[in-house]
Amino acid sequence: MAEVRTAHTADLDAATLAAVRALLDNVFDDMTDHDFEHALGGVHALVWEGAELAGHASVIQRRLLNRGRALRTGYVEAVAVRAGRRGRGYGTAMMDTIERVVRGAYDLGALGATGEGAAFYAARGWQLWRGPSAALTPAGVRRTEDDDGCLYVLPVAVPLDLSSELTCDWRDGDLW
Ligand SMILES: CC(C)(COP(=O)(O)OP(=O)(O)OC[C@H]1O[C@@H](n2cnc3c(N)ncnc32)[C@H](O)[C@@H]1OP(=O)(O)O)[C@@H](O)C(=O)NCCC(=O)NCCS
Repeated sequence: MAEVRTAHTADLDAATLAAVRALLDNVFDDMTDHDFEHALGGVHALVWEGAELAGHASVIQRRLLNRGRALRTGYVEAVAVRAGRRGRGYGTAMMDTIERVVRGAYDLGALGATGEGAAFYAARGWQLWRGPSAALTPAGVRRTEDDDGCLYVLPVAVPLDLSSELTCDWRDGDLW
C-alpha cells in the first residue's frame, strides 16, 4: 500500500516544491512554468519512496461557469507517477486522496486529461464533458475548441448536463 502524504502548498518547503517540479519535468516533456504554477495553491498528494518523490497530484480551486452558475470546482492538476514506478497503485492512492478533497469541499471535480490519462480517470468514474468548452478571457467568453473531448468531471453536489457549455475562469498559460 502506497503512503500518500497530503499538504497545502503553504506547507511544502522549497526542496519539496523543487522535487515536485523535477518529477513533472521528468514525466511531461512539455512542462512549462505556467503548468507548474497551475498546480499550486491547493492540496497536494505526494508519494515518496524514501527520499525520492515517486508521484504527485494536486487539486486547486477554480470557478467553472455552467448554465448561469459559477461552480466551486476542485480542479485536478499535475497527476504524475515516475516512469518505472507505475502500476504499483500510486496513481490510485493519490486520486483516492484528491477525490476525497473534491467530494468534501467542492461542487464538482474537473480536469483536462492527457490521452494517456483519460482511461485512468474514466475507470475511476470521471465523466467526459461532451459539450463545448470555453474560457472567460479578459476579452469575454471565447471557445476553447482544442480542449473539447479532453475534459472530465466528477459530479458531486450539483446536477450537470454534460452536453451543455462549460466555461473556465481565466489564467495565464493553458486555460484548461
Ligand atoms: C496515469 C498515471 C498517473 C497512473 O499512475 P499509476 O501509479 O501507474 O496507476 P495505478 O498503478 O494506481 O493504476 C491504477 C489502475 O489504472 C490503470 N492504469 C494506469 N495507467 C493507465 C492508463 N494510462 N490508461 C488506462 N489505465 C491505466 C492500471 O492498469 C490500474 O488498473 P487496475 O486497478 O485494474 O490494475 C501514470 O500512468 C502516469 O503518470 N502517466 C503519465 C502522466 C499522465 O499522463 N498523467 C495524467 C495527466 S492528465
